[in-house]
Amino acid sequence: MQTTFTSVRDLASKAGQETELRGWVAGFRSSGKIAFLELRDGTGSVQVVIARNEVDDASWEAVSGLALESSVRVAGVVRQDDRAPGGYEITASEIELVGGSEEYPIQPKEHGVDFLLNRRHLWLRHARQTAIMRVRDEVVKAIRDFFYERDFVLVDSPILTGAIGESAGTLFSTEYFDLGTAYLAQTGQLYVEAAAAALGKVYCFGPTFRAEKSKTRRHLTEFWMVEPEVAWLDSEGNMELQQEFVSYIVARALERRGAELEELERDTRPLEAVTPPFDRMSYTEAVARLQGGGADIEWGSDLGAEHESVLTKGREKPLFIYDYPRAAKAFYMKENPDDPRTVKCNDLLAPEGYGEIIGGSQREDDYDRLLARIREEGLPEEAYDWYLDLRRYGTFPHSGFGLGLERTVAWICGAPHLREAIAFPRMMTRLTP
Ligand code: 4AD
Ligand code: MG
Repeated sequence: MQTTFTSVRDLASKAGQETELRGWVAGFRSSGKIAFLELRDGTGSVQVVIARNEVDDASWEAVSGLALESSVRVAGVVRQDDRAPGGYEITASEIELVGGSEEYPIQPKEHGVDFLLNRRHLWLRHARQTAIMRVRDEVVKAIRDFFYERDFVLVDSPILTGAIGESAGTLFSTEYFDLGTAYLAQTGQLYVEAAAAALGKVYCFGPTFRAEKSKTRRHLTEFWMVEPEVAWLDSEGNMELQQEFVSYIVARALERRGAELEELERDTRPLEAVTPPFDRMSYTEAVARLQGGGADIEWGSDLGAEHESVLTKGREKPLFIYDYPRAAKAFYMKENPDDPRTVKCNDLLAPEGYGEIIGGSQREDDYDRLLARIREEGLPEEAYDWYLDLRRYGTFPHSGFGLGLERTVAWICGAPHLREAIAFPRMMTRLTP
């Protein structure tokens, strides 16, 4: 067996030549004397034509064993063909069945989502899923490039932590030797705050965990979050950074993942409108508007998904909602000097019903106020002693935010549910495959 072979994506470089491909059977039909095989190799797919009188007996024998998702090795000539989907077709001279695939469970017909999720390890091979994975990959690269180009330093935060990051209600915990309970990180924020005092502009990017007893299409129990933290940045600057960041990511996906978005049948027109500046609305104004529209909401409670949909309806760009009530948000947010009932924070709501993709805030930098908030929330003071040190020793104004990767990918892809935006989704009712 040759050790070199050509990827479907690179077929143009082999036009007119004999080459070898390896991959899986994505479709197959045979008429006795001639067989057509759609070969998929992860970089694309190409039609392979196998004529009985042009291959040896062993190859024709292999053809009779082909089935959906068999793995194969094919040798043949690359022919340019303008009618073929990728512009090329393979005339096979040899084919070898590497791995059979009897009764592959996912057939070209409608399957229920649970059926597919139970076979996620196989479902991943299908065109729609590979397109989403490629968009996700591009979004991750764009995120890293954005911060690298702006001199941010990546500082990885721990996953096993001793303090609650966001809210006590949604913690996963595990026993940790003689030290009691460890929590899986809900956020890396507290740690990047420490790093911001060391390096100025930093970010962390990794998996975060929330035991959300929520079965909505917007919640995973394990999701990826990117969290920049910037010294000397206020809430205003924080929103400017967010709109620049989100616009950069969307533009990158449009620029480099057009084919995938087309595969996903994503209408890209609303995405093209995503450029700075984004509109802003205070929480207080948002509540007034919602009440005006007959929504059941009181000033003081957090906005729900249905409220977010109403507020973004008819908009093409994401929308900032800022200065939420203190009681509705996490303990670390800075009290608003102009209205102490609220904090200097914002959510960023994606349009088209996707809702919150970012939560961000200026952090409370006053030692006494922060301590008071920790006590008010009933958090264990000892666990936050190191965090309070950041206010004891050279406290500084700083802000940051967290963008949920899967929510962003789902929005860009136009996927209705977060479960398709991550390879192996973890939800309240799903831990396998
Ligand atoms: O608004 P959140 O809870 O903010 C934080 O965790 C802050 N510490 C971030 C920061 O300032 N550094 O979460 C941020 C984002 C949300 O806007 C959402 O996109 C995503 O994380 N997110 C989830 N994504 C999927 N499943 C869940 N259960 C999520 N919870 C939050
Ligand atoms: Mg939030």
